[in-house]
Amino acid sequence: MKAKLLVVDDEINIREGLKKALSLDGYEVEVAQDGQEALDKIDEGDIDLVITDLRMPRVSGEELMKEALSRYPYIPVIILTGHGTIENAVEAMRNGAYDFITKPLNIDKLSLIVNRALENSSLKRQNRELLLQLKKKYSFENIIGKSTPMKNVFETIELVAPSRANVLIYGESGTGKEMIADAIHHNSPREDKSYIKVHCAALPESLLESELFGHEKGAFTGAIARKRGRFELAHLGTLFLDEVGEIPSQIQVKLLRVIQEREFERVGGEIPLKVDVRIISATNKNLKEEVENGTFREDLYYRLDVVSIHVPPLRERRDDVPLMVHKFMEEFSKENNKEIEGITNAALQALVAYKWPGNVRELRNVIESIVVLTKGSIISEQDLPQYVLSRDEQSHLKIPSGVTLQEAEKRLILFTLQNTGGNKTKASEILNIGRKTLHRKLGEYGIA
Ligand SMILES: Nc1ncnc2c1ncn2[C@@H]1O[C@H](COP(=O)(O)OP(=O)(O)OP(=O)(O)O)[C@@H](O)[C@H]1O
Ligand SMILES: [Mg+2]
Repeated sequence: MKAKLLVVDDEINIREGLKKALSLDGYEVEVAQDGQEALDKIDEGDIDLVITDLRMPRVSGEELMKEALSRYPYIPVIILTGHGTIENAVEAMRNGAYDFITKPLNIDKLSLIVNRALENSSLKRQNRELLLQLKKKYSFENIIGKSTPMKNVFETIELVAPSRANVLIYGESGTGKEMIADAIHHNSPREDKSYIKVHCAALPESLLESELFGHEKGAFTGAIARKRGRFELAHLGTLFLDEVGEIPSQIQVKLLRVIQEREFERVGGEIPLKVDVRIISATNKNLKEEVENGTFREDLYYRLDVVSIHVPPLRERRDDVPLMVHKFMEEFSKENNKEIEGITNAALQALVAYKWPGNVRELRNVIESIVVLTKGSIISEQDLPQYVLSRDEQSHLKIPSGVTLQEAEKRLILFTLQNTGGNKTKASEILNIGRKTLHRKLGEYGIA
């Protein structure tokens, strides 16, 4: 596509001359005779670059540039200037002009400047779009939830994100703690600084220490070079400490110091390094209990838990399940090129009633596997895994009083078989009887 330039000058010769010359260079060229007309044209859209004179009636070049840059910061502005107004041109550069060129005009030179400016602005635009996409990816839009507890979580994220306060996120595995940490960082003033994650349970103590704080060459066997730690990498940005409850007490001391004094030394190093890092941590433990047990330092706990966010397990916010089911269905249908139109009420009810010990992660995985495996376009109970269907109500057998022991046994055996989908080995395991005994009893009761 041809780039569209706008040439603004009150002298018709210059306007028309530039139009002709730049059209020959392959640009589409619009003209305007003063700043006001130019602004109107820019507002109409699709102008990629502005070339403007400074002294013009009505709205001057300076005013035009100021206004254009405030409305459309990614449209480069090039200033045309006579020798008498070079100082003004320099001033314009200071105020955001891309470049200036003096009259009489050297078209080749102008053409070069235009070319460079357009390349530069398209890069800027691309970057901006990437940033917007990233932002969208991490905004709360993709954290699904409309239940009251989730609304509270969103509200806290919004309040805490702009600050520098450390945040501790509590919640069972798979409840979305990491997503929330991401949302906080990406909605904070540190969003364009680094965001570093450390999984504290994944590393043995010695490695975790050098991972967090780095080490000097020769600090220990194997330290063949100096290594920068995660704290250094996160300088000015955010550090996410996942499973912070797993940090051994040795490292807790060092962590406390870096939070309190904003400085630390690399392992084996002596020079204190200054850092400014915001810490978001997550845990599926009850840290307060850990403090009472003496396994987690109380002073550190208070430093990390300046603001706490509790993410409830999915079974305590069942209102969110239908929405999640639909969003995940949509996501995985697209990913797998499947045309899934919907889900039956009964199937949805079963999903809502299930207790989801693995929380949202489990629900997401279940929906993915259903979408991949299903042959139909409507998801029904038959598509759900057996364990989801044997929901709470179904896992209780009601036996009224007045029934004989033999009858009760018969009913329990039948019920268990139903829940195992007719699998006798599983049923005998659950009932804690041998397979042979189960067969004999089935025969006695006349059950095929
Ligand atoms: N509210 C939500 N909306 C959409 N997806 C969610 C939500 N909560 C969690 N998920 C998804 O569930 C999975 C687990 O989320 P995440 O890793 O954030 O959980 P976690 O609490 O950090 O788990 P763990 O304690 O196991 O580390 C991810 O795939 C995430 O996309
Ligand atoms: Mg996690």
